[in-house]
Amino acid sequence: MGGMKGTYSSTWIYIFFIIHHLVSGDVTYSIPEEMKRGSVIGNIAKDIGLDLGRLSARRARVDSEDNSVQYCSVNLNTGELVVQERIDREGLCAKKTSCILKQELVLENPLELHRFTIRVQDVNDNAPQFKEDLMKFEIRESAGKGARFVVGEAHDGDIGENAVQGYTLQQNDHFKLNVNSNSARRKYCELVLDKELDREGSKELNLVLTAFDGGSPQRSGTVIIHVTVLDANDNAPVFSQTVYKASLPENSPPDTLVITVTATDADEGLNSEIMYEFDHLSDEISNAFSIHSKTGEVTVSGDIDYEKTSNYEMQITAKDGLGLNSYATLIIDITDVNDNAPVINLKSLTNQIPENVSPGTEVGIINVQDRDSENNRQVRCSLQTGVPFKLVPSIKNYYSLVTTEQLDRELVSDYNITITATDEGSPPLSSSKTVHLTVADINDNPPVFEEQSYSAYVTENNKPGSTLCSVSARDPDWRQNGTVVYSLLPGEVNGAPVSSYVSVNGDTGVIHAVRAFDYEHFRSFKVHVMARDNGSPPLSSNVTVNVFISDVNDNSPQILYPTPEGNSFMTELVPKAAHAGSLVSKVIAVDADSGQNAWLSYHIVKSTEPGLFIIGLHSGEIRTQRDISESDSMKQNLIVAVKDNGQPSLSATCSMYLLISDNLAEVPELKDISYDERDSKLTSYLIIALVSVSTFFLTFIIIPRLLFDGAVAIPSDYLPPNYADVDGTGTLRSTYNYDGYMTTGSRTSDFKFVIPYFLPQLEEYYFEVSVGYSYLNKTFGSP
Ligand SMILES: *[C@@H]1O[C@H](CO)[C@@H](O)[C@H](O)[C@H]1NC(C)=O
Ligand SMILES: *[C@@H]1O[C@H](CO)[C@@H](O)[C@H](O)[C@H]1NC(C)=O
Ligand SMILES: *[C@@H]1O[C@H](CO)[C@@H](O)[C@H](O)[C@H]1NC(C)=O
Repeated sequence: MGGMKGTYSSTWIYIFFIIHHLVSGDVTYSIPEEMKRGSVIGNIAKDIGLDLGRLSARRARVDSEDNSVQYCSVNLNTGELVVQERIDREGLCAKKTSCILKQELVLENPLELHRFTIRVQDVNDNAPQFKEDLMKFEIRESAGKGARFVVGEAHDGDIGENAVQGYTLQQNDHFKLNVNSNSARRKYCELVLDKELDREGSKELNLVLTAFDGGSPQRSGTVIIHVTVLDANDNAPVFSQTVYKASLPENSPPDTLVITVTATDADEGLNSEIMYEFDHLSDEISNAFSIHSKTGEVTVSGDIDYEKTSNYEMQITAKDGLGLNSYATLIIDITDVNDNAPVINLKSLTNQIPENVSPGTEVGIINVQDRDSENNRQVRCSLQTGVPFKLVPSIKNYYSLVTTEQLDRELVSDYNITITATDEGSPPLSSSKTVHLTVADINDNPPVFEEQSYSAYVTENNKPGSTLCSVSARDPDWRQNGTVVYSLLPGEVNGAPVSSYVSVNGDTGVIHAVRAFDYEHFRSFKVHVMARDNGSPPLSSNVTVNVFISDVNDNSPQILYPTPEGNSFMTELVPKAAHAGSLVSKVIAVDADSGQNAWLSYHIVKSTEPGLFIIGLHSGEIRTQRDISESDSMKQNLIVAVKDNGQPSLSATCSMYLLISDNLAEVPELKDISYDERDSKLTSYLIIALVSVSTFFLTFIIIPRLLFDGAVAIPSDYLPPNYADVDGTGTLRSTYNYDGYMTTGSRTSDFKFVIPYFLPQLEEYYFEVSVGYSYLNKTFGSP
């Protein structure tokens, strides 16, 4: 049990360790200052436990917390931190005992921040240095043994052991060295008079003072102290305080009074005239402050920037007219003013966001810094409204820019997003940055045809290759994803592949006829055209193109009855007693064209007895125009022309033979027919008679049926003249009842037929024929 418990707790400790790492990171590297560029500081990937292979993909990089100099960088292949910029401890941290660079290792995807610190160790690269090479002292010969003269101190940029450790004074007859520490634990030295001076013995003397540090190797600096021996004695000035403290807001303008230091001198006259000055001023301080030599007023003389230096410490010397010095320390604390607007840094940005990314996708990382302190550096970040993006606060000063909705490149292809950062200073400062985001295309739109369907009208007998129509589809996607290519969908028209009828230009969508069309063959057909884009995978849509072929008058009327060969056996009998207006026969013709092109008209162009017969202009019915008279020739011949109404019109002619007779036996021609035997002659008559009669029947009864069943155009005299069968179904919209009533032989003949029918469909089709066979018997006798 105890063992198990141990395992658990160490697991927890381990997890805690990892989390601790993720959130704060406490890896510290100690390096000496002034390492060469490229020197390895340590392996951060190993120390944090990162997957080496993913460093590059996760765009690992080092940021300093305040985004100033990039002192080190991470090698993406090895995970090592290497020195990037000179790291000068003195420049970075001056006299601070611990010099720490706070750095962050930033990883994206997901955003991760590992803090680490670089502790910069001092290297003894600075020698102790006195303010001047030569110091001048004027000392009265009356000065007693043990009198002290402050020499001041040497400075060493280094710290600790590497800073000034001690002083030695060159061997001499009069002075010894006394080393003291002041409040700031800095060592300064005094000359102590060991043996009285004698102006008469020597008027001046030179001493060499050496300061040394504790570094290895040791460094040292020297100053020559030139002592002039004077005749009288004096008091040194005394500061009212050994340490002065002042506080000053940054950005205080020049001449602002910081503090007034005062020192008093017990002497009178010239000896009490005190001169103040800064001792051992760094450039930094001398550029910022000045001290009035008479009044001791310390004033601002340059830029005071909290972000550069937040406190100053300096030595002030008070010197009386006879050159006796005393020292005080002045510490000035600078207070922060909200003078730095936040700075927005774009740490990473996906410039091309695919439009299909799901809402919540991180497209960028920003980092916000404010160089001020406390509240002045508390920053809030916001985004303009009305864009499908938001800022999600991440670790510390980092924000993720994420999408909030589905993007659509076809609606908005790019965004300019303005990020505003405001600090909490008073008054607050803000700054903004605009980032440009482009939405990258995804092939998410199929081509869409501009019309739901297309119709093309073409007259028959067109030229192959002629243009029928053009289709057009649009695809709003980008480049090849929006490039439309047209093609025919495979299919058949009348059993032949559709490609043998039409072709489509892949680029333009123009549809061409591949062959000449024949209206009499078919009047319309459909093709399906597909529009496909060039995306991968491609998207497509298709549309129906209806091709309508219109008629050209390219068919002459065709005469069905009488047969155009003009066979004289086709002879109609006309009873002698026929009155004016009797129906005698009928010319039946059809025209394969349609509409006007098939609207037929009938004309008698030649006749044996002009005026005896007339023909119905559109019915083709031949009627007697007057009663038959005895003088009329028995044998009548009509030549009938049938014309269609096309432009130009086409025509056909036929001959019609008519016999005015009540009895076939009277027919002279029939006798001429060379039949040897009477019986067979008789049979011939009978046949002829039957043929005549039957032909007439056929004409009226069978042929219409044939016409419809055989899909031949209907004789258009049955149609209203303006009728045009454009929908191609062959359906007529009127009902015709045709009553055929005719007589042969006598007006009162029982040879009668009635053909009521519904013309278009001919579904019901009946007729009643009562043929007087007796008539035939009577005429020809029983065979
Ligand atoms: C974004 O800014 C650029 C440059 O200022 C400009 O050309 C572009 O039109 C802007 N785009 C939008 C969507 O406002
Ligand atoms: C087209 O769409 C695909 C995804 O469907 C995308 O990968 C490609 O980049 C797009 N092409 C262009 C030119 O935008
Ligand atoms: C043509 O389009 C219809 C509906 O738009 C679709 O159902 C059909 O699959 C498409 N045909 C082809 C061959 O793409």
